[in-house]
Amino acid sequence: QETPSAQRVDGQFLKDLLGRRPRDSHKGQSGKVTVMGGNHGMAGAVRLAGEACLRAGAGLVTVISQPEHQLTVNANRPELMFWGCELVDMEVYLRLGWADVLVIGPGLGRDDWGYNLFKAVGMSDKPCVLDADALNFLAKEPRRQQNWVLTPHPGEAARLLGMSVAEVEQDRFAAVQKLQQTYGGVVLLKGAGTLICDGEQVVVAPVGNPGLASGGCGDVLSGIIAALMAQGLAPMTATIAGVVVHGEAADLAAAAGERGMLASDLMPFIRQLVNSDLI
Ligand code: APR
Ligand code: MG
Repeated sequence: QETPSAQRVDGQFLKDLLGRRPRDSHKGQSGKVTVMGGNHGMAGAVRLAGEACLRAGAGLVTVISQPEHQLTVNANRPELMFWGCELVDMEVYLRLGWADVLVIGPGLGRDDWGYNLFKAVGMSDKPCVLDADALNFLAKEPRRQQNWVLTPHPGEAARLLGMSVAEVEQDRFAAVQKLQQTYGGVVLLKGAGTLICDGEQVVVAPVGNPGLASGGCGDVLSGIIAALMAQGLAPMTATIAGVVVHGEAADLAAAAGERGMLASDLMPFIRQLVNSDLI
């Protein structure tokens, strides 16, 4: 469904993008990201987003989730910071001030807890990546923001546009442009041949494979994009590069087979790819 005006990108897009870290660099220069989500029973979503964010090079990552998820989030991954949030109050606003970039949505759920975190992100005006249930809250309360990245799959896109999934899929190019016009910022429409639009151009990234059609792969993508923004890339560049890193990591992971591929299998390849401009 792609039109001639969509620019295609592949692994070459990563060339010379991040560059070598200065010898005297410190973790503050690589950016601080806070990942919010993981309502009851959904610790895995924020763990995956947080871990991917670290592997994509963020300096410090904090996960804000339901308190009972601390051990799960930190299991074999002590590098993640964790704040258990039972009640969304003023302390959340203070903690959001720490971050350079926010991610909200993975495993967020649709109850008041999730909604209050969604509202807190809106009040903060920080650069952010909105995914999953954060997009469902946005569909109910539409507004525009220039410094955000929206990452809907076709189902979430349909809700944001008030149309059916079939209508979104029938003209994905028109759908991603309509989403960007309505909500501002950068919009990424997931699926085979991910489309990315910032209002000026539409980019198609024909990377990745059906091995990505398994739970949690989208959460990994959110973490990668936020990490690249935290390292100084503009939202559009970070989103394109994030999709390329995610898709190429999937293609490397698929050497062992697409069927049975897990979101966690992408992690080592993410690290390899964000360093690939040095090879
Ligand atoms: N080819 C290429 N890429 C693919 C393919 C494919 N056939 N199938 C999926 N992908 C990619 C998508 O482009 C996207 O980047 O895998 C990722 C899947 O992301 P999501 O659809 O968000 O899946 P998931 O991580 O399981 O989402 C977790 O959040 O969005 C909600 O409803 C969703 O409950 C689910 C949760
Ligand atoms: Mg998802």
